[in-house]
Amino acid sequence: MIKNHTQNVIEITEKYSAHNYHPLPVVIAKASGLWVEDPEGNRYMDFLSAYSAVNQGHCHPRIIKALKDQADSCTLTSRAFYNDQMGPFLKLLCEITQMEMALPMNTGAEAVETAIKASRRWGYEVKGVIADQAEIIVCSDNFHGRTTTIVGFSSEPGYKKGFGPFTPGFVTVPYGDIAAFKKAVNKNTVGFLFEPIQGEAGVVVPPDDYFSECARICHQEKILTMADEIQTGLGRTGKWFCVEHYGFKPDMYILGKALGGGVIPVSAVTSSKEILGVFTYGSHGSTFGGNPLASRVALESLCVIRDEKLVENAAELGPWFLNELKSIPSKHILEVRGKGLMIGMVLKKEARGARRFCEALMHKGLLCKETHENVIRFAPPLVIKKSELETALEKIRSVLLSPELL
Ligand SMILES: Cc1ncc(COP(=O)(O)O)c(C=O)c1O
Repeated sequence: MIKNHTQNVIEITEKYSAHNYHPLPVVIAKASGLWVEDPEGNRYMDFLSAYSAVNQGHCHPRIIKALKDQADSCTLTSRAFYNDQMGPFLKLLCEITQMEMALPMNTGAEAVETAIKASRRWGYEVKGVIADQAEIIVCSDNFHGRTTTIVGFSSEPGYKKGFGPFTPGFVTVPYGDIAAFKKAVNKNTVGFLFEPIQGEAGVVVPPDDYFSECARICHQEKILTMADEIQTGLGRTGKWFCVEHYGFKPDMYILGKALGGGVIPVSAVTSSKEILGVFTYGSHGSTFGGNPLASRVALESLCVIRDEKLVENAAELGPWFLNELKSIPSKHILEVRGKGLMIGMVLKKEARGARRFCEALMHKGLLCKETHENVIRFAPPLVIKKSELETALEKIRSVLLSPELL
């Protein structure tokens, strides 16, 4: 049998790549906006957006131009010297997050590590916690990245099995439970690290008053609220930041993914001078953090979200799309939940897993991915139009009502 290009690519990838992912059997060779294309020329709607890293759509012309222009002038200086791109990027980021300072890194996990370090040092130097006693409260079913420290406070055995020993100083509470949160607070608590909606856990939305009440307690007890908006931020939920839905401003924003416009990894923590001011020369850093190429791309990525009103688009289309999904009369659907264009469709146990539905959707030209066993996540680029969502709905309806997937 003659193999096509897709089969060859999958074979070589499976042979040489560590098996730390379980991708759908599709190869993407080209991408633009909402659409991606395999080597055989089949086109698909991307309803995953690289886990929300492509909010601006694939290969956005303005972002690609910024990348190319900057690549022609200067790409990396390290922080041993100043570069002329980082300052303007951080200025805009601070304006958008309404914070005083920012610390740029590369991946989401590095930004989470940065927030952890900042809150601990703030705890010792500002709050007055006894050395090495700092505690950070985290939520069950969290996903904050893959470093050893971060997986150490995961409640998902698959993320941590075989990787111990882990960093101490984290206390886990059930997501959404205010009483449990109150109980976990003590004089050593320096921070509360949370996802405003838990993406990897299956688009889990907490009760409306959960975070505002936790934030009130944190304020009262001098505990830093650290919002991991790596997936929920930058327009995804129909607000610039998901915490805005809950009516409070955190002490720290942790950002990544779409900050790099789906082009290169860019992450950052933004906060006050009091908090990020705890970092002194040499206490933290990254060779590539704040590099001119990344800074120029990130600046343009933010401008695209602002100028193209992508937050407004998610706010307008998201609730409509969610209701349309809810009205699909499929016996497989247990619940549809989310905010903006971050939507999880929870299937019943009897549906025998979300994966086979994602595979069927792939054959219909729509790419999405199961999260955990039973949830299909829909998170298209925020540049999507209503007519495209209508096309997607037809595909989703036909799969969920298909007699072949009983
Ligand atoms: C909420 C959240 N935090 C942190 C991360 C880690 O980001 P990265 O994969 O860039 O390290 C992710 C990635 O999915 C995420 O969704």
